[in-house]
Amino acid sequence: MYKTHTCGELTLDHCGQRVTLAGWVHRRRDHGGVTFVDLRDRFGLVQIVADSTAHPEAHQAMEPVRVEWVVQIEGKVRARPEGMVNPDISTGEIEVDVHAVRVLNPAKTPPIYINKESEIDEQVRLRYRYLDLRRARMRRNLELRHRVIKFIRDYLDARGFLEVETPILFKTTPEGARDYLVPSRLHPGEFYALPQSPQQLKQLLMVAGVERYFQIARCFRDEDQRGDRQPEFTQLDLEMSFVEREDVIALIEAMFTELVAQVVPEKRVLQTPWPRFTYEEVMNRFGKDNPDIRFGLELVDIGDLATGCGFGVFERVIAAGGQVRGINARGLGDYSRKQIEELTGFVSRYGAKGLAYIALPSEGGQRSSFAKFLSEEALQGILERFEAQAGDLLLFVADQPAVVAESLGRLRELLGDRLGLRDPDVLAFCWVLDFPFVMWNEDEQRWDPSHHLFTAPMPEDIPLLDSDPGKARGQQYDLVLNGYEVGGGSIRIHQRELQAKVFELIGLDPEVAAERFGHMLEAFEYGTPPHGGIAPGIDRICMILAGEPNIREVIAFPKNQNARDVMADAPSPVEPEQLKELHIGLELGD
Ligand code: AMO
Ligand code: AMP
Repeated sequence: MYKTHTCGELTLDHCGQRVTLAGWVHRRRDHGGVTFVDLRDRFGLVQIVADSTAHPEAHQAMEPVRVEWVVQIEGKVRARPEGMVNPDISTGEIEVDVHAVRVLNPAKTPPIYINKESEIDEQVRLRYRYLDLRRARMRRNLELRHRVIKFIRDYLDARGFLEVETPILFKTTPEGARDYLVPSRLHPGEFYALPQSPQQLKQLLMVAGVERYFQIARCFRDEDQRGDRQPEFTQLDLEMSFVEREDVIALIEAMFTELVAQVVPEKRVLQTPWPRFTYEEVMNRFGKDNPDIRFGLELVDIGDLATGCGFGVFERVIAAGGQVRGINARGLGDYSRKQIEELTGFVSRYGAKGLAYIALPSEGGQRSSFAKFLSEEALQGILERFEAQAGDLLLFVADQPAVVAESLGRLRELLGDRLGLRDPDVLAFCWVLDFPFVMWNEDEQRWDPSHHLFTAPMPEDIPLLDSDPGKARGQQYDLVLNGYEVGGGSIRIHQRELQAKVFELIGLDPEVAAERFGHMLEAFEYGTPPHGGIAPGIDRICMILAGEPNIREVIAFPKNQNARDVMADAPSPVEPEQLKELHIGLELGD
């Protein structure tokens, strides 16, 4: 070994011991004849001191050494002088008096600061990810992710779950995204699809009698990138036989409660048992199906008051079957017209045609973009409904339900940020239940599954599949944390006839269904147990536990927003020979 100790483990107990350390130069300071270096390895930092009088050769050898050089040193541990103790690091009470220095490898000046937090362009960080990962913040994130996954593995192992690896080269497994395809050399013109999730395989493992399965599974989805999405990401994929919804919910709730206590004890879970909402309720109250329930500012319906209120915009929207809803942004009553215009611009990105307001400044009085059109009665009715008082800002959107939900749902979270209501140390888990089984796809003029093809409808709603599919509810559950969907699952269909019926309902041609999913239908004929499961997204959960703003921060080598790996430069062109072997000819547009 190049070292007898790690840089993080030396304490006063080691005083007087000779040690050999190896690591990176984190910082160096020259004080006349004495050079101080903070030596870093994954386990910590330690101060080493090269004194020209005591050990001239070591001091000399340290001369050319710069930050990020890799060095090995030999020396003796001693207590730091009075007043020099650094309480911020674990080795802050000692230092190492260096007797010998060996440069293992010099380093170019790094393009990013490793020894201090600074604003760094993310493209540069990703281009030099191996340097970025040396930074304390990233090391902490890697460690956190390791602990989360280790906890999950141990927890599930202790409860009889088997971790089973499933193939990456497989067949299309739709979860609502495009597939990544892999051409086959041996089978000209045929392609594997990378799994969007191991959904079918985990169900087939239930047919196989595994009963309790999990996998830390890589999934691949070609979809538009966002801060909480990556083309490849990781799920805790889990499936159980002979269970009902409550069983899956209870397992996940107990596991994450224990995980938080063990892995991030400094965080507080807002409410246990975790609150449960129906899909309808969250859409009404929060405007989105993955609500952040750390704060209020809920959406309030004033459709009844808007009818005949005198303000044409509201009246016309209601007459056209739309909605009028508002939020009371308590504490923003002194917002200027310009600040409100900025909020109007924000909601317009989500389709809102305006943002009507009533501001009640803290000094008293009232400013409004539309109160002048309202009857006194209508105005009073609105103020009462919001329990409005001085200092409040009421903001309204009138539109079709989807636009009202999206624009006010987003606005609510923006206001929550501004009002400091989204405490990163609070974890607000909740369940969203009773999703519609299918949703109408206006563009394609057909029903789409609201979760995936294999989710079971509520048993009592099965007759609705024939009479009124839009009213049927699915046995789906979403796990939501601080405004992110961090998991989704369901009780599955386990009978061939029902599965075939659902394929038919969503307009899947029977031949196509047989070609794509014939293996599932066939498997269901050989004694399939009732089963269900869930897949929490590991990246999103780690992002929230780490207090990071996007999932790239908790993935060692993520793709950028354009789905590129800018370090290795992938995707990249390949040799014509390779294409030929794969029976592929390129026809690139401009
Ligand atoms: P679903 O599609 O809801 O369900 O995915 C489950 C969870 O995976 C995470 N997730 C993502 N994380 C990062 N980047 C992405 N592109 C991405 N897409 C999804 C989310 C999401 O809640 N087979 C079903 C699960 C089941 O029914 O058991 C499935 O994949 O946190
Ligand atoms: P106008 O009469 O167009 O000047 O609008 C008066 C106020 O109503 C302004 O504050 C607009 O932002 C707002 N407004 C217009 N259309 C809508 C709408 N669909 N929903 C909410 N507010 C609106």
